[in-house]
Amino acid sequence: MFNLILFGPPGSGKGTQSDKLVARYGLIHLSTGNLLREEIANQTPLGIEAKSFMDKGRLVPDAVVIGMVDAYFDKHKGARGFLFDGFPRTAAQAEALDSLLAHKNTSIAAVLALEVTEEELVKRLLNRGKTSGRSDDTNEAVIRNRFAVYMQETTAVATHYKAAGKFEAIHGEGTVDDIFEAICKAIDSKMS
Ligand code: AP5
Repeated sequence: MFNLILFGPPGSGKGTQSDKLVARYGLIHLSTGNLLREEIANQTPLGIEAKSFMDKGRLVPDAVVIGMVDAYFDKHKGARGFLFDGFPRTAAQAEALDSLLAHKNTSIAAVLALEVTEEELVKRLLNRGKTSGRSDDTNEAVIRNRFAVYMQETTAVATHYKAAGKFEAIHGEGTVDDIFEAICKAIDSKMS
């Protein structure tokens, strides 16, 4: 299996690049944000709990997210690899992921981190908010809180994978195609 984490702050292009990467490498896309939004749309108890955190730009509790990822693994037993988008977001999630993968006799091959400035992120997300219908995209204070949460909590994930020698930064500004090529170059060097 080849397992990749696409890392980066809200609006850095993880979802955009994931769609292209899945098409090129045949990995299963696991976006915890998408899974949570499906739960909200279906008005499940998990979705109702998650919504109160997401609307404020806060993280959903680790136990909820880890349980959801575990269930997703069970649904995709034959996968040749996973592309993790928006997960893990805390040190506890990173440790849980490492151990879930270890049970499958596999591990994370690389963590590729899209680096984009806060001002560019705010601009992108406010622009998307005009049409996305996402409650966390329309209010600038909520967007800035998502970025602050990323800096406070998610940075621990970078530290975790830097210590394992798996972390690589990718410049996340420019055209979608140029960034995609930079990501593919990094992946191909890990696969060879
Ligand atoms: P989640 O859904 O993961 O969202 P996010 O990380 O905040 O990021 P986005 O999906 O908003 O952005 P992205 O990096 O995917 O960029 P995109 O490609 O869409 O999480 C939402 C919430 O769910 C969290 O706040 C939290 O509450 C909860 N949650 C999720 N996972 C969790 C977890 N593991 N633990 C706890 N809570 C969790 O692009 C953004 C915009 O920019 C688009 O309009 C796009 O067209 C545009 N764009 C993309 N690339 C470029 C480019 N190169 N140039 C110009 N524009 C671009």
